[in-house]
Amino acid sequence: MASLQLNLKSLGGPYCHHDASLPKQCPPKMGRIRCGATTPTRSYSITLLPGDGIGPEVISVAKGVLSLAGSLEGIEFGFQEMPMGGAALDLTGVPLPDETLSAARQSDAVLLGAIGGYKWDNNEKHLKPETGLLQLREGLKVFANLRPATVLPQLVDASTLKKEVAEGVDLMVVRELTGGIYFGKPRGFSSNQNGEEIGFNTEIYATSEIDRIARVAFETARKRHRKLCSVDKANVLEASMLWRRRVTAIALEYPDVELTHMYVDNAAMQLVRNPKQFDTIVTNNIFGDILSDEASMITGSIGMLPSASLGEKGPGLFEPIHGSAPDIAGQDKANPLATVLSAAMLLKYGLGEKNAAERIEAAVLDTLNRGFRTGDIYSDGNTLVGCKQMGEEVLKSVESEVLATI
Ligand SMILES: NC(=O)c1ccc[n+]([C@@H]2O[C@H](COP(=O)([O-])OP(=O)(O)OC[C@H]3O[C@@H](n4cnc5c(N)ncnc54)[C@H](O)[C@@H]3O)[C@@H](O)[C@H]2O)c1
Repeated sequence: MASLQLNLKSLGGPYCHHDASLPKQCPPKMGRIRCGATTPTRSYSITLLPGDGIGPEVISVAKGVLSLAGSLEGIEFGFQEMPMGGAALDLTGVPLPDETLSAARQSDAVLLGAIGGYKWDNNEKHLKPETGLLQLREGLKVFANLRPATVLPQLVDASTLKKEVAEGVDLMVVRELTGGIYFGKPRGFSSNQNGEEIGFNTEIYATSEIDRIARVAFETARKRHRKLCSVDKANVLEASMLWRRRVTAIALEYPDVELTHMYVDNAAMQLVRNPKQFDTIVTNNIFGDILSDEASMITGSIGMLPSASLGEKGPGLFEPIHGSAPDIAGQDKANPLATVLSAAMLLKYGLGEKNAAERIEAAVLDTLNRGFRTGDIYSDGNTLVGCKQMGEEVLKSVESEVLATI
C-alpha cells in the first residue's frame, strides 16, 4: 500500500482518470477523493469470451472490476470481446471460430464466462459448445489447471462438512490438463477373444509432461505455504510410478518446498476427513478432474470458484468453474464472484500483477462482510442482490480500500 499512498499524494486533490465506459466506478460522493486511478504505466490486451447463458452477465461484472483494480495500480487494459461456444455456433456455425482463437493467442490473457445450453445439447459432437472449449485449451496449449478451494469465513455454513473441518480450508489443486488417459492412445472400442465388446483407454505420461506440470506446481506452492502433495497411484500404475519418480527429481530444484506423496484413494478420503492438511496438490488429468471437483464442494458454493489454465508460454485461460447455468440465465440472478476471482487469478498468475489481484480479493471479502449475497450463497440476515448489484458492491469495495489507505 505504501506505493499507492505515494501515488495518491503525488497526484494530489480530487481526480479521476477512468475510462468513460465505466461510469459506475466513480460514484459522485465517496469522500475527499473520488477515485484513486493513476496514470497507466503498463498495458495488457485481454480477450473476453462471454459465451452463453450467464456468461455475458458475469463477464460484464468482471470486466468492470478488472478495469478499476487495474487503473488503481497503473494498469490499462485493451479488451476485445469474441464469440465462443453456442454464441459462436449461432453466428458462424462453429463453436470456436479461427478469429476467436487467433485473437486469444495474440492477447496477454483470456477471460472466459461459460459455454453451453439446452439449444445446442443435441448437436453432433464437433458442433457442441463444449468442443469449442476443448479446442481453445488445446489451441492455447494450456497444460496446467489451477483450481483453488478456499472456504471463506463468511460462507463456512455453505459447506456440507462440519464447521470445524471446513473452517480455514485454503488449498490449490494443480491438475495436468492435456495428457494422461483422456488423450492417451490407443483408445477405442473393440472385442475381446470371447467376442465381447470392450472399451479401452491408455494412461500414459512422458517425462517432459510430468516435469513441466511439477515445476508449475512447485512454483505455485512457493507463492503459497510451500507445501506440495503429489497424488498418484504408484502402487499399481506404471504411469504413476514414473510420475512419482519425476516429481521427486524435480523437487531437488525447489529445496524450500516440502514435498509429500499420497495415493489417490487416500487423498480422496483425506480431503473430506481433514482438508486443512493440504496446501498445494499436484496430480494427473483424471485424478485432478475428480479431486478438484471434490475439493471445490468443500466450499459448498459453485458460484464462488475461479480457475486458471496455464501453458509454458503464451496467454493463460481464466474462467469460473461453473457452467452457463441456463436455468437462471438472463434473470440477473448469477453470482459473478467466481468470474471476478478468475480475473484476480488472471492478474496474479497470468500477468504477475499481484497487487491488483489482491485488491480484487480483498474487495470480494469486503463485499461479503457487508452482507451482500446472490441467491446461491444467501442465508438469513444478509442482503439478497442480483448479479449487477453484486458487481456494483464489489466496485464500491475496491474504491473504499483506496479511501481506507488515505
Ligand atoms: N466451463 C464451462 O463453460 C462449463 C462448465 C460446466 C458446464 N458447462 C455447460 O453449462 C451448461 C449447464 O450445465 P450444468 O447445469 O451441469 O452446470 P452449471 O454450473 O451451469 O449449473 C449447475 C447449477 O449451479 C447453478 N449455478 C452455476 N453457476 C452459478 C452462478 N454463477 N451463480 C448462481 N448459480 C449458479 C445453476 O443455476 C445450476 O442450478 C451445460 O451446457 C454444460 O455443458 C459449461
